[in-house]
Amino acid sequence: MKTRRLANLQVPAIGYGAMVLSPGIYGDIDDTRAAAALKAALDGGATHVDTSDAYGADGHNERLVGQAIKGRRDEVVLATKFGLAIPEGEPSRPYPVGYAFRELRVNAEPRLVRRYAERSLRNLGTDVIDLYYLHYPDPGVPIEDTVGAMADLVRDGLVRHVGLSNVTAAQLRAAHAVHPVTAVQNEWSMWRPIAPDLLAAARELGVGLVAWSPLGNGFLTGTVETLSGEDDFRHNAPRFSAENLAANNDRYAPVRALAAQLAITPAQLALAWLLHQDEHVVAIPGSRTPSHIEENLSAADLTLHPDTLARVDEALSRIEVTGGTLL
Ligand SMILES: NC(=O)c1ccc[n+]([C@@H]2O[C@H](COP(=O)([O-])OP(=O)(O)OC[C@H]3O[C@@H](n4cnc5c(N)ncnc54)[C@H](OP(=O)(O)O)[C@@H]3O)[C@@H](O)[C@H]2O)c1
Repeated sequence: MKTRRLANLQVPAIGYGAMVLSPGIYGDIDDTRAAAALKAALDGGATHVDTSDAYGADGHNERLVGQAIKGRRDEVVLATKFGLAIPEGEPSRPYPVGYAFRELRVNAEPRLVRRYAERSLRNLGTDVIDLYYLHYPDPGVPIEDTVGAMADLVRDGLVRHVGLSNVTAAQLRAAHAVHPVTAVQNEWSMWRPIAPDLLAAARELGVGLVAWSPLGNGFLTGTVETLSGEDDFRHNAPRFSAENLAANNDRYAPVRALAAQLAITPAQLALAWLLHQDEHVVAIPGSRTPSHIEENLSAADLTLHPDTLARVDEALSRIEVTGGTLL
């Protein structure tokens, strides 16, 4: 697997997003299937594994990842996040989101940061987190204060690299002035562009980019015509309402046709396109299906000719997505 640098951290160009492996996100899933998916990802070279203390109940996702990396911790760049799984009795503040099913509440007060990290270390069964993200900035806490507490974790050896998720360019600049930021993880895909000023700030500061939901929550694979189980969170995302999904699938037909002309799948084109946007961007697609994982990882080896990229960009520029975004 080709590697890339997020600041001074080397990771595979395509990693693995483990969020899909906890029930209630993309529908039902049991731990046996989850363990098989994680093994397929690690064996296939997706050794940058992304989780969070907020995926699944009571650290479920982190514990799954902890089980999977037992005996192979040294192979893995382990990334997790904090701020949403708030300890009982602690206050929280709402973070505005574009979906209806639950309110997102955050607490990133510096006094809690070590407690979050120690809980994640226990869940993950390790003594160090390679890349530790603030999951969402806390509207009630200056980001400099949260990052100051993260810097203490680096100093004390609990964390190797500091990351930020779901931030603006201004928040990145403010945080980076306190402690070097290794990576920003924001949504970025063929149907969700990155904010140009955030991309410019990351390039200027030498901060790497990790694209979340790089397959558009599955939409860009061209295989989502309807949603099935009730416990699929996409039911709450406007882009996936039955009407919008049908319209969006029609609009992306030209992009799927380009993938067919290249004899690759739409998922592979979506990932390869992303990797061609910047030399310091990596993708973390999620999947519960080993054959999909293999298909996705092979996209790291694709080189898209500039003429091809121009045709894809031209097709994308003509698409107006129906339905709002999640954030
Ligand atoms: N920082 C944040 O706030 C944040 C927010 C959201 C996500 N994330 C991170 O980003 C990661 C990825 O995001 P995501 O899982 O939401 O979205 P995604 O990677 O864009 O899409 C995942 C969906 O695509 C399907 N899929 C994957 N490969 C496929 C293929 N080759 N063919 C057909 N279907 C395919 C999966 O179904 P199958 O299981 O059937 O393959 C799953 O339903 C998460 O795991 C998480 O680590 C971070």
